[in-house]
Amino acid sequence: MPMPDAAPSEDAGVAAPPVHVAIIMDGNGRWAAARGLPRREGHRRGVEALRNIVKAAGELGIRYLTIYSFSAENWSRPADEIEDLMGLLKRFVRNDLADLHKNDVRVRIIGERKNLKPDIRALLDEAEELTANNKGATLVVAFNYGAQQEIAEAARKLAERVARGELSPDQIDAGTIAANLQTHGIPDPELIIRTSGEQRLSNFLLWQAAYAEFVFVPTHWPDFDKAALEAAIEEFGKRERRFGGLSAKARA
Ligand code: IPE
Ligand code: IPE
Ligand code: MG
Repeated sequence: MPMPDAAPSEDAGVAAPPVHVAIIMDGNGRWAAARGLPRREGHRRGVEALRNIVKAAGELGIRYLTIYSFSAENWSRPADEIEDLMGLLKRFVRNDLADLHKNDVRVRIIGERKNLKPDIRALLDEAEELTANNKGATLVVAFNYGAQQEIAEAARKLAERVARGELSPDQIDAGTIAANLQTHGIPDPELIIRTSGEQRLSNFLLWQAAYAEFVFVPTHWPDFDKAALEAAIEEFGKRERRFGGLSAKARA
């Protein structure tokens, strides 16, 4: 039966639009330095870019957007910069949570929360609880997040179940590990974007990135806009995802 031209191809090699986009928002400091401004100003402008990208992702039909906002290793920065970043996070939650909720966005936080200051913890908990039943897009905020720490925690949880006799070691496979990561229930990102020209993961979603496509852009995060996001998605669309199989051409 002839197929209409616009019908989606069944070739595994043709990339479908991403369900889940994850972004390493990098380059705030260099954006500011290039303008003779304090790093703080770069971070402030970075939050504005974030606000726009959350909106743009919704408009583009992206179901899951994960943003790397503070790494487990970012505590090694000077105390005043950490304070600026914490202040911006608090302001973001206070100012934007109501809007996100109104737009039916579900917020999930990944990262270590136990050792955070009580006011930050309370805000993160509030963001998750308020939006827990929302059915629209999901915004995953990676805060005080480290992928190695996340995987170690999953291993510890499984080891505890083994020690209690609830699980046998031979039941542990990739699925049981994934189910014990903080991202459980969230599909793996198909596309990971990093701004600012750096080409590394910096301890972000190491497990979940197994078959992600990477797009590295030279733009510093405060300048990353909807057009830049669309361009990254277009680039993603040109990739041939093989998942260990053969390309459509090789199979023909
Ligand atoms: C990203 O910008 C924000 C965070 C890591 C919190 P940077 O602060 O890393 O900016 P650069 O990399 O120094 O330019
Ligand atoms: C990664 O950026 C963390 C975030 C974007 C939150 P960094 O700027 O901390 O990464 P490195 O130090 O350049 O690898
Ligand atoms: Mg950086």
